[in-house]
Amino acid sequence: MSTTNTAASDLVSVTVADADPAPRTLAHDVHDGLTQPFKQLPPKHLYDDHGSDLFHAICDLPEYYPTRTERAILVERAEQIAELTGAVDLVELGSGFATKTGVLLDALKRAGTLERFVPLDVSAPTVHHCAGEVAAEFGIPVHGIVGDFERDLGLIPAPIGPRIVAILGGTLGNLQAGSRRHFLSRLRGLLDTDGRLLVGIDLVKDPAVIELAYNDAAGVTSAFNRNVLTVINRELGADFPVDEYEHVAFFDHENEWIDIRLRAVRDHAVRIEALDLTVRFAAREELRTEISSKFTRERIAADLAAAGLELEDLLTDADGLFGLALAKVA
Ligand code: SAH
Ligand code: AVI
Repeated sequence: MSTTNTAASDLVSVTVADADPAPRTLAHDVHDGLTQPFKQLPPKHLYDDHGSDLFHAICDLPEYYPTRTERAILVERAEQIAELTGAVDLVELGSGFATKTGVLLDALKRAGTLERFVPLDVSAPTVHHCAGEVAAEFGIPVHGIVGDFERDLGLIPAPIGPRIVAILGGTLGNLQAGSRRHFLSRLRGLLDTDGRLLVGIDLVKDPAVIELAYNDAAGVTSAFNRNVLTVINRELGADFPVDEYEHVAFFDHENEWIDIRLRAVRDHAVRIEALDLTVRFAAREELRTEISSKFTRERIAADLAAAGLELEDLLTDADGLFGLALAKVA
């Protein structure tokens, strides 16, 4: 682990987990995920520098409603959240470029309570970028953390007063149900009794609307998805023929999640040098790269309750597309 003050601003410090978090687990995850009968990978490897930029572009797509809808809810309700929480400290997990966070920081600043921002993300450039921007705009200390939110929560500094721990954008839904509840129970450990958890959740709705959001006409989501193969080629010396995989995203009605996969166009073998491994893909065989779970009030309340948290409020837009769940220690 190392902590540095960047030259950009005396207000910014960035802690990097003992090794860069994504490369640290990539070899293990690829070995594990590609040697099972049903191949799958955890989604965090989608976010190298290029993948983070592609996700940023997804957020502006006309089909991708979550970002603009969550922002609109924040614009409408940030003042209420600031008043309810009196938060001095905002910890954001999977902060990315933190494009919507400013709305909340602004409300906390206007309420006169804001003292610190702690963004944590697996992507180093996004942490550096957003830490610099927030320090410059809000004039508060920013303690950035480059780490994996499933492993590195211990790097988050102790609370300095009432705190909000936020995970926005629907990122919680990228975890499988069991991991999600385990993760939420670890988040509970970051909260004192005056703290609040703020979770952005995409809501169950017309499947056609959801499927369109993950099958955009410009093909940005397809490029984002296929980029994980480029990451594996680069980091592990593999030879995935990236252009010979098709992007697949469909709503799984039983699980109520979007299932995102890469489908091999033809039968072929992939060599992964760093693992001394050869993996065979049959024609039309699929590799799952991400799930994105959609929630009902009951599902998020049950997940929170299982983690010792209580759903205090669920703020939604008028069309019921997206929700912001506010929770406290039960
Ligand atoms: N919160 C932002 C970004 C969401 S994209 C928004 O709402 O727009 C998901 C973010 O989570 C990406 O920035 C990605 O790098 C990060 N991420 C994904 N898995 C992670 C993990 N295991 N640990 C830390 N960050 C992770
Ligand atoms: C980050 N996460 C909430 C996005 C989602 O909608 O599940 C990732 C994404 N994948 C494809 N498009 C967006």
